[in-house]
Amino acid sequence: DNSVLSNIISSQEIHSKFGGVVPELASRAHIRLIMPIVKKALLKAKIDLAEIEGLAVTNGPGLVGALLVGLNYVKGLSLALNTPFVGVNHMEGHLYGTLLSQKKYKFPIIFLVVSGGHTQIVLMKDNLSYDILGQTRDDAVGEAFDKGGKMLGLGYPAGPDIDKFAKKGDKSFHKFPHGLTKYETYDFSYSGLKTSLLVFLQDKSPEYIEKHFSDICASYQAAAIDVLVNKTMKAAKDNKIDRIGIAGGVAANSYLRTELKKKCSEAGKEFYIPEIVYCTDNAAMIARVGLEYLQLGKVSEQSLNAFPSLKLSSHR
Ligand code: KG4
Ligand code: ZN
Repeated sequence: DNSVLSNIISSQEIHSKFGGVVPELASRAHIRLIMPIVKKALLKAKIDLAEIEGLAVTNGPGLVGALLVGLNYVKGLSLALNTPFVGVNHMEGHLYGTLLSQKKYKFPIIFLVVSGGHTQIVLMKDNLSYDILGQTRDDAVGEAFDKGGKMLGLGYPAGPDIDKFAKKGDKSFHKFPHGLTKYETYDFSYSGLKTSLLVFLQDKSPEYIEKHFSDICASYQAAAIDVLVNKTMKAAKDNKIDRIGIAGGVAANSYLRTELKKKCSEAGKEFYIPEIVYCTDNAAMIARVGLEYLQLGKVSEQSLNAFPSLKLSSHR
């Protein structure tokens, strides 16, 4: 019934000092953490492992080492408990993270899915049914935040910090390029934005950058986000859809949330916004998708593999 008994998140601080996720360190940390996290989750939910009726696990997209740890652990649990399990697409999880945050929702929905690895506009026609209308041709918007932040001397992930500094800055301070706005497409491009920040910073003194730090963050953020807002609204208009949702880590961005909320209310569209805890990666969103599958009697086999570039596809 959409209620979450526990949702324990363990973030790996170790990557911050390397300015990005180091795959091998991530897999090793997964091995170390997975059992304590499951124990914590059961304790918080006041549920015994033997009471679990279904298991869900991410089997892609993502880093293969990390995916394999989760997948093999769940396969083992499934055998030991004689309980069905189902493999879930991580991006599908993000969509349901937003639905999990709504008291009521209806389909169809135009979804903007924005994370560290993905930037997509998805038409969600029904439960487990999707059309991808557009996506990034190079970097994801989350990556633009993280790499841009690194150039500005911020830690990883940089999205939340840029968001924080941008609140105090003037977004009209500098015009960074808005990727693919002149073209009739729902696709995105972020590599140019990243390069333009690099070029912009090259001839500026440390004093100048420090003085205008918030303004630079605000201008960079606006360039990254305005395109998302405009293309999402256009996709809803063109397809005559009255409901818009945002999902994924970048959906935590306060400027994106405010701008899209404003545009939706002007255009008379319903806006589905995720709670912050269901924006960035979490287990509840994967469990929520698993429930949909298991209710339809769809279960995975022990032979299921992990797929680093698993595509979002309909399962109805
Ligand atoms: O969904 P997620 O937790 O992991 C992936 O599936 O990639 O998304 C992580 C991304 C990172 O790039 C991070 O910088 C970005 O979400 N992010 C934000 C904010 N919070 C997280 N970007 C902009 N503003 C934020 N407030
Ligand atoms: Zn994610």
